[in-house]
Amino acid sequence: MNYYAAPMEGLTDRIWRQAHQRWFGAPEAPVRYYAPFLSPPENRVLIKKKMAELEPAANPGVQVIPQLLAKDGELAAWMIGELRRMGYTEVNLNFGCPSGTVTAKGKGSGMLRDPQKLDAFLDAVFSQAGGPVSVKTRLGVARAEEFGEILNVYNKYPLCELTIHPRVMKQLYRGQADREAFAAYLSACTAPVCYNGDVTTVDDLRALEAAFPGLSGIMVGRGLIADPALLRKAVGGPAASREELRGYHDELYHGYTEAFGMASCAVSRMKAHWFYLIHLFDGADALEKPLRKAREGWEYETVVNQIFACWPK
Ligand SMILES: Cc1cc2nc3c(=O)[nH]c(=O)nc-3n(C[C@H](O)[C@H](O)[C@H](O)COP(=O)(O)O)c2cc1C
Repeated sequence: MNYYAAPMEGLTDRIWRQAHQRWFGAPEAPVRYYAPFLSPPENRVLIKKKMAELEPAANPGVQVIPQLLAKDGELAAWMIGELRRMGYTEVNLNFGCPSGTVTAKGKGSGMLRDPQKLDAFLDAVFSQAGGPVSVKTRLGVARAEEFGEILNVYNKYPLCELTIHPRVMKQLYRGQADREAFAAYLSACTAPVCYNGDVTTVDDLRALEAAFPGLSGIMVGRGLIADPALLRKAVGGPAASREELRGYHDELYHGYTEAFGMASCAVSRMKAHWFYLIHLFDGADALEKPLRKAREGWEYETVVNQIFACWPK
């Protein structure tokens, strides 16, 4: 089974991808990392700071797949060309993001409102951009049954892979991924299918592999931030040790401090990781509040040392 790290804005940036691969990568079964979405600029002038995330020099030794969030197929095709010039092959299209600011512009899962527009978008992409293009999608806007019509559109195009997160837009991240609906549509998908949603343990992975042996991959998001060794364990490797987690944490924190130019910005980024990661540490729940309140580097570092003192679980 192929395992993929899900794109997560504010979490799975270049600094995380490097630290994750260094500390928890399994060399015999490398994970593919989907980068958080980029929106192609309407004036077709690439924004240096955004593109820096994808510069090959900033992502050595890591397999990265860029993702686009767009609603104009011609613009997306142009951007795919730019990414190919940078050396990327596969480019992923985001039809899953449920954030109100994104869907209000008709992007992300907002694209699922109108299958005809989705069709026109994909037609422009596939007629103007060569090479492998994959899609990451939700099932629909309000009801899983919408996926029948949406899938008819996807099936018209040679997607190299279709990643399905079986929630609908209106659900945001509430409730559970609808694995029954996923199962119901799976055999009708012509592209290779990757499953995504609510995988947090090796047992979950095994259960999915047993239930859906024909999957091309399983993508894990929050579960991998919560337990960075999850996919290493899935291929027979060890659980995370305290030393590894400390090394991983320090690499992230120092990497963000250098990238953002000040510890307080790094603290804010690190809190997004700790929101998930803290549950690996036994009895650290009481430290969630002081962690949330920490602003300065020294405050943050004090709480983090206390969290690490809670190990082992
Ligand atoms: C903070 C956050 C940021 C995300 N950013 C992206 C993104 O940039 N692109 C995308 O396709 N999905 C994004 N997602 C959705 C995840 O890729 C994934 O589909 C979702 O979290 C379900 O998988 P999981 O249960 O394994 O986390 C994001 C999710 C979260 C929680």
